[in-house]
Amino acid sequence: MARILITSAIPYINGIKHLGNLVGSQLPADLYARYMRGRGHEVLFLCATDEHGTPAELAAAKAGLPVAEYCARMHEVQKELSEGFRLSFDKFGRSSSPQNHRLTQHFAGRLADNGLIGEVIEKQVYSVADGRFLPDRYIEGTCPNCGYDKARGDQCENCTKQLDPTDLINPRSAISGSTDLEVRETKHLYLRQSALRRDLSDWIDSKTDWPILTTSIARKWLDDGAGLQDRGITRDLDWGIPVRRGDADWPGMEGKVFYVWFDAPIEYIACAKEWSDEQGRPDADWERWWRTDKGADDVRYVQFMGKDNVPFHTLSFPATIIGSSEPWKLVDYIKSFNYLNYDGGQFSTSQGRGVFMDQALSILPADYWRWWLLSHAPESSDSEFTWENFQASVNKDLADVLGNFVSRVTKFCRSKFGEEVPAGGAWGDEEAALIDRLKTELAAYEGHMEAIEVRKAAASLRALWVLGNEYLQSAAPWTAVKTDPDRAAAITRLALNLIRFYAVISRPFIPDASDAMLAAMQTDDADWPEDVDTALTALPPGHAFTVPEVLFRKITDEERADWQSRFAGVRT
Ligand code: 2FM
Ligand code: ZN
Repeated sequence: MARILITSAIPYINGIKHLGNLVGSQLPADLYARYMRGRGHEVLFLCATDEHGTPAELAAAKAGLPVAEYCARMHEVQKELSEGFRLSFDKFGRSSSPQNHRLTQHFAGRLADNGLIGEVIEKQVYSVADGRFLPDRYIEGTCPNCGYDKARGDQCENCTKQLDPTDLINPRSAISGSTDLEVRETKHLYLRQSALRRDLSDWIDSKTDWPILTTSIARKWLDDGAGLQDRGITRDLDWGIPVRRGDADWPGMEGKVFYVWFDAPIEYIACAKEWSDEQGRPDADWERWWRTDKGADDVRYVQFMGKDNVPFHTLSFPATIIGSSEPWKLVDYIKSFNYLNYDGGQFSTSQGRGVFMDQALSILPADYWRWWLLSHAPESSDSEFTWENFQASVNKDLADVLGNFVSRVTKFCRSKFGEEVPAGGAWGDEEAALIDRLKTELAAYEGHMEAIEVRKAAASLRALWVLGNEYLQSAAPWTAVKTDPDRAAAITRLALNLIRFYAVISRPFIPDASDAMLAAMQTDDADWPEDVDTALTALPPGHAFTVPEVLFRKITDEERADWQSRFAGVRT
């Protein structure tokens, strides 16, 4: 049994996530966690909300709530939705937790002790009326390029031109509207990433088994130097983790907070402490996952994220860890994803375009979405959600292939032999051939799951379902029963056992359907089929079962058209 630490990129707190966010990290991470648990490994699966930074402040202001309260509420909303999608986190933490405050301040202190923090004086816009420095996006004015009068200090939304706050004509504070703005000096801390270039480069080079998508992004940033420029890790904001040097004050940094991208990945670690603290357990319990001097040496650590997150996880966060010169666990494998597009365009949180997690669950249960998203995961390239494709794949894979198998077998047995596994005679050549093919395909499925090849794993799983259908079609127990009831009973015995087998191997993809299948088979034996022959005899003759409710219903053309138009516009 191995120990596997799994983290998903932590979603920003500002609003409900769309399906593109979900498939880019949390959902595949859950698939892997469920699979590894199913194989009997010890798994710690962590995620959290990413609560700091200007987007959180802005969203709170828009909602008319104090930012702490906004974050607390949105955390609960996101937590409920992740439960709705059956994301099996051991802990869904918060980057604003006291644990993360302490740990972030601790890392900053270590980095400073190791000479890796520099202090830099910068010039920034200060709003006298608001009594604070304004980040770029808090400054509004007229675009010098197109004349749009609500352009932001970082970019004009109208013509997309990248701007500097000083480019704006008639600049004003986006908070108060005040034009009483001045440029003032302010001190910030910089992480001297450049000093760690060699270490990071050697470390990336040692990761020969990583996906190309991950290493190519890391190498690009390393080689053109841009990603390894020293990086500002503090901000003039109220909301965030106060800048401290470990337990001590940091002279000159009063009233400032750490930059959100500094504290967010540290939450992966703090989240483990939140997990053990919550259960009143000692630090040793989380440290055995994170400290190589306390048992984490034999942990395999796998991270999941979208491609935009790769530079932070291959360079910045490792720089924090390596720079601390403490024995923290470094990531062993980074699985990154391309983007999922929506019906001819992009999913967009700011524009409210696409299907969001709450909307998805309001029209269909989690398994429908899990199956489509995972079987179309944007691995080798970007992929696209269309309603036609969604309908086709639900109706074919889930309803026609898996659902239909379960329903046909259970209903046939009930009508001919009653609601228990019939005995019948011994299995013959046809069964031996089926079992052989199941073994081969199961091995392929397991290989893809180990390698985190999500689409290939889905294709193998589907192929396993198809094998059962083909067998049923050619063995035709409904014909056999007329002349050779014993033979029909033997086929049915195998087919009922296949339902349990499918319930177990499909569990990582469609956990609710798996539960329903196990419940119908009146068993809680969800052990992984280490040996296929044995697994197919788990339900012995005489074992009672029930015919389940429809496992997966079909999506009608009317529904598809209705959803397509309902989700064509933007969410308000
Ligand atoms: O891209 C995002 O959604 C970020 N909130 C991810 C942060 S992941 C990490 F660093 F914790
Ligand atoms: Zn413009």
